Amino acid sequence: MSLDTAPSPARRSESVLDAAAVRRLRRRVLTWYGRHARDLPWRHTADPYAILVSEVMLQQTQVPRVVPKFAAFLDRFPNLECLAAAPLADVLTLWSGLGYNNRAVRLRACAQAVVTAAPQGKPAELPRSVGALETLPGVGPYTARALLVFAHNVDLAAVDSNVRRVLIHELGLPHDLSQLSLQRVAERVLPRGQARDWHNALMDYGAAVLTGRATGITPPTSQGPFPGSRRWYRSRLLKLLLAHGPQAAVDLPRALGLGRQDASAVVAALAHDGLVEQRDDTVRLR
Ligand code: ADE
Repeated sequence: MSLDTAPSPARRSESVLDAAAVRRLRRRVLTWYGRHARDLPWRHTADPYAILVSEVMLQQTQVPRVVPKFAAFLDRFPNLECLAAAPLADVLTLWSGLGYNNRAVRLRACAQAVVTAAPQGKPAELPRSVGALETLPGVGPYTARALLVFAHNVDLAAVDSNVRRVLIHELGLPHDLSQLSLQRVAERVLPRGQARDWHNALMDYGAAVLTGRATGITPPTSQGPFPGSRRWYRSRLLKLLLAHGPQAAVDLPRALGLGRQDASAVVAALAHDGLVEQRDDTVRLR
């Protein structure tokens, strides 16, 4: 076969997805879920804010550690308005034990952005589209979709590490299949009208049965922002401010390993997202 006619990995992965394979996958995963579903606290709510909190917590932290923190966080900050108005120190106290404090800083900035955008006298509401959600601090392509799936049962596919392992293993896909191709596969196998149950089922099956150890499927290598990228520098500055408190603006180029203009651009980007502020030549978390 000439190179010109060889199917791309993405095309190959779609072609193995005949209707029978899709039906088998759905039956196996949903049957297993019917017997083994986990009772997790964020499955008792369809409140988009509570779902967002759970998804941000679950981004880099295991389920058992998230469970008690989720309840305590919602007790203290029951809605977007409460979180938006909270001092950052209080938010970080409730976040302790989860790690990756940047996530808490972004989550509060997200709440502030939504509250600020709400019409006068109306309760703040998270957007209902992927595009609008992705403009919010801390909300990437996965989190935006997961939020719409779990809060509103929208027919979307959200591919986290568990979902990825299940799809690759069950459908015999290449372990290095691109994120875009996996997303297409996930959309193809989604049972319409059942997005919420389907994702809960995939996540439980992946966490309990098709573990990394059982499948030999390792996480994709690029986890987190690419070193040297703009996102990476923003994350570095947030970590610096979280660990060491306010910094003199003149010290930032050296601390970040950047030229003056580039360091200023990093501060400006974080200020634009409502995460930091610069006053009297000092940069601090907001
Ligand atoms: N990981 C990410 N989101 C999850 C969820 N809703 N349930 C279980 N594990 C998850």
